[in-house]
Amino acid sequence: MAIKELTVFMVCFWIVYSVAEHEYFSSTDQIAQLYGKMKDLLKVFSQCNDAANVETTKSVLPNLLFSYSDSENPEEAMRNPVAAYRLLGQMRNDLIFIEQHIQPNLYLCEEYHDELDAKLPDIPQLEDVDAAASGLIRLQEIYRLHPEDITKETSLNADEAYHVGLVAYNENKFQHAFLWFLYSLDRLTEYSTTTEEELLHSLSFSAYHFGSLSVAIYFSQELLNLDPSNDEVRVQLNWLLRLQSNPDISTLNTESSDYETLCRGEVDERTSKRQRALSCRYSTGGGNPRLMYAPVKEEMEWDEPLIIRYHDIISDREIEILKNISISQLSRSQIGKGTVSDIRTSQSVFLEENYTVSRINQRIADISGLSMESEESAESLHVQNYGIGGRYEPHYDAWDNENERIATFLIYMSDVEIGGATVFPKVGVALQPEKGSAVFWYNLHKNGTLDLKTLHAGCPVLMGNKWVANKWILEYGQVFRRPCSLSDRE
Ligand SMILES: *[C@@H]1O[C@H](CO)[C@@H](O)[C@H](O)[C@H]1NC(C)=O
Ligand SMILES: *[C@@H]1O[C@H](CO)[C@@H](O)[C@H](O)[C@H]1NC(C)=O
Ligand SMILES: *[C@@H]1O[C@H](CO)[C@@H](O)[C@H](O)[C@H]1NC(C)=O
Repeated sequence: MAIKELTVFMVCFWIVYSVAEHEYFSSTDQIAQLYGKMKDLLKVFSQCNDAANVETTKSVLPNLLFSYSDSENPEEAMRNPVAAYRLLGQMRNDLIFIEQHIQPNLYLCEEYHDELDAKLPDIPQLEDVDAAASGLIRLQEIYRLHPEDITKETSLNADEAYHVGLVAYNENKFQHAFLWFLYSLDRLTEYSTTTEEELLHSLSFSAYHFGSLSVAIYFSQELLNLDPSNDEVRVQLNWLLRLQSNPDISTLNTESSDYETLCRGEVDERTSKRQRALSCRYSTGGGNPRLMYAPVKEEMEWDEPLIIRYHDIISDREIEILKNISISQLSRSQIGKGTVSDIRTSQSVFLEENYTVSRINQRIADISGLSMESEESAESLHVQNYGIGGRYEPHYDAWDNENERIATFLIYMSDVEIGGATVFPKVGVALQPEKGSAVFWYNLHKNGTLDLKTLHAGCPVLMGNKWVANKWILEYGQVFRRPCSLSDRE
């Protein structure tokens, strides 16, 4: 009896422990780190197994070890959002399996017990996997991709695809759901958990919802052919057949916002004549002594608002250091104070000053000619890593603050193969991330009012890991550097 109670207690404790909040989908780096932790964990399991010869573990361990033996750098694998989604789901399943079937036997190798407890990572929650699937659907919407396009490099099995379809269905994106169900049907095997019945059912329902009655009838008929004795399906089919016209439809939103078309690279005003007028030159920051001997390469990306790109302003080594400092401290990015939202999927951290961070701050001050001396004159350097389909929808950097963000200095710490551009929808400009470069613009007019043309967004990352660092420069402390204007025409 006592033992039984103890077991119950342990199980409860274990579950509470494993439900600890840890968000994975909003940072590809977090998924890569989890992969590393899985490898470490399995290594200890295998030592434990060698020591104690645990019967149940012995049979499954080789398979598990094999799934994580890939020598590929996990960060490299995470550049592909489909692979990231897949891996996240796989790790969730494996960790649940470990919790249920391996963990209970571990009393047999006591000497590893503490080590194993310490090594067990937080299990990705179903919400994580759903949010990752939702990221894939968003990529499809914005970049207009079919399931076949987005899975060209990494394909999904029937169960994984079915899950993406269900998430799309729950978001009322019935055409996307339908396409994923079809994809899943194509890949159904004897090992799939998803059944043909489930898929035909889902296909029929999603077709009905996006307004294609004949397609809905077709799949209901197929379902009935599969199981002619199923009365429920017969009733459903009759009901569909009696419908006179197509039901109300919620079609795919075919209208694109300026933001979306810019992200797709369809309109970039700079390909016009205006672009040719923009210049590229070396700058010494208006004669700054630190830049006299190492001038920065400066490129005008746009004139109104003035957007300047500085090339090679941070080295690969500095980027690595910034990433190393940030990795253990990343948490979900907010919009405004304390609010987490679907419009911003990334994780970030404000870095404390130290040697490298200070050097970079100094460089930003030299280049921009603005002061970074105190908390009043600039915010701490803000490092950010994007998640699956990670993006930041159109926004202004300046909110309604007393000490406003007068200017933004945005450093690209990685290249992004596809997607992830910084776009300015009001003026039609798209800036592609280029590792080691930075872009700079003023958010406020000289008279202190918000420059409405600085509305900008981070496009969803379609392929690649996006890392950026932001330096937001504040109004106070810039009085002598960027005097405010008395004229309201400036
Ligand atoms: C960053 O961290 C990795 C892994 O811990 C390490 O191998 C590398 O040397 C670090 N890089 C720098 C520049 O500190
Ligand atoms: C910078 O700070 C991080 C922790 O915040 C620390 O790990 C790192 O060693 C520091 N680097 C230097 C050069 O001080
Ligand atoms: C501030 O300057 C901008 C740009 O010249 C102008 O459009 C705006 O009307 C001015 N606002 C005020 C309140 O003076």
